[in-house]
Amino acid sequence: MIKVDHLHKQFVSNGISINALNDVSLEIQEGEIFGIIGRSGAGKSTLIRTFNLLERPDTGSISINQLDLLSLDTTALQQARQKIGMVFQHFNLLSSRTVEGNIRFPLELAGQLTDAEINARVTELLALVGLSAHRNAYPAQLSGGQKQRVGIARALANQPELLLCDEATSALDPETTESILQLLQDINQKLNLTIVLITHEMRVIRQICDRVAVLDKGSVVETGKVIDVFLFPAHEVTKSLLAETGLHLDPTLLRKKHLHDGLLLKLTFTGEAALNPVLDKLSREHQIHYNLFQGAISEIKGESFGQLIAGIKADHLSSAEILAVFAAHGVKTEVIQ
Ligand SMILES: Nc1ncnc2c1ncn2[C@@H]1O[C@H](COP(=O)(O)OP(=O)(O)OP(=O)(O)O)[C@@H](O)[C@H]1O
Ligand SMILES: [Mg+2]
Repeated sequence: MIKVDHLHKQFVSNGISINALNDVSLEIQEGEIFGIIGRSGAGKSTLIRTFNLLERPDTGSISINQLDLLSLDTTALQQARQKIGMVFQHFNLLSSRTVEGNIRFPLELAGQLTDAEINARVTELLALVGLSAHRNAYPAQLSGGQKQRVGIARALANQPELLLCDEATSALDPETTESILQLLQDINQKLNLTIVLITHEMRVIRQICDRVAVLDKGSVVETGKVIDVFLFPAHEVTKSLLAETGLHLDPTLLRKKHLHDGLLLKLTFTGEAALNPVLDKLSREHQIHYNLFQGAISEIKGESFGQLIAGIKADHLSSAEILAVFAAHGVKTEVIQ
């Protein structure tokens, strides 16, 4: 488990001080895929870099599996860092070394295995990331996706407990992103590896993360299960990050246009309600009339959901009764107007 408490980090550049981290506290559970999102400059990279002390906070504490990183001497910190792998947006491979040479590098630095053991470990890692055929290739001979696979194999070389990914798929096309996400999910499950990832791509969060934290101006403004945060974003920054994905419905435009004399509701269907024709059923059983204005139907980490903005009217039901009928069928409602 990663536990950070009250982290503060200030940078001073050209006489101007910036609070890159402003009282950040977070807990990330073992085996979780945890996403961090936020606008550019929000402090995401600074935060993730404190997890292996590439960045030292000014105040606060960081512990990984109960090991207090700030209390470690240089040797102990080096050992702790071997259990924390990191993957970068631009891969950061050594161009003069082959794929094998790049993956061997952290194993040579750790100095714990014989040459034969290193060879065996490289073979194993190459198979894990699907690059066995490219052992002797140089980075320049690889595609972006293949380079990132080398980056991931190298990060996994010393059997880390934690993998940090800073925009690991941001330089890749959608199809390659898909295959790297699949690989990250596979290793998360096979190795029970905790993964913390930063991304500006909401679909990355939606597809593989269990929980997400939203950073803004150095502070965590929202955190929770992805399905909760994405379906019921509370903070303006979260809403604006989700706006581009079409996942967050924005009813503000509709208010003016809304001529319906009933209720204007945001309806959220999750679990059973997402899989059954609930609206149709209620419409027939309770003579509820609906007029759909906006909608999104999709999946978050394999879980289906539907979210609709609808004008709702029922001749024989009060507004409170309409809301009660939806609630009784597992549909969450938010009254917009
Ligand atoms: N070494 C540094 N020296 C001075 N300022 C820095 C340094 N590193 C980061 N900052 C500043 O701290 C703030 C947070 O930066 P950080 O790189 O953590 O943001 P980010 O959320 O990762 O942004 P992006 O999405 O653009 O990568 C920014 O205002 C940035 O300019
Ligand atoms: Mg960054």
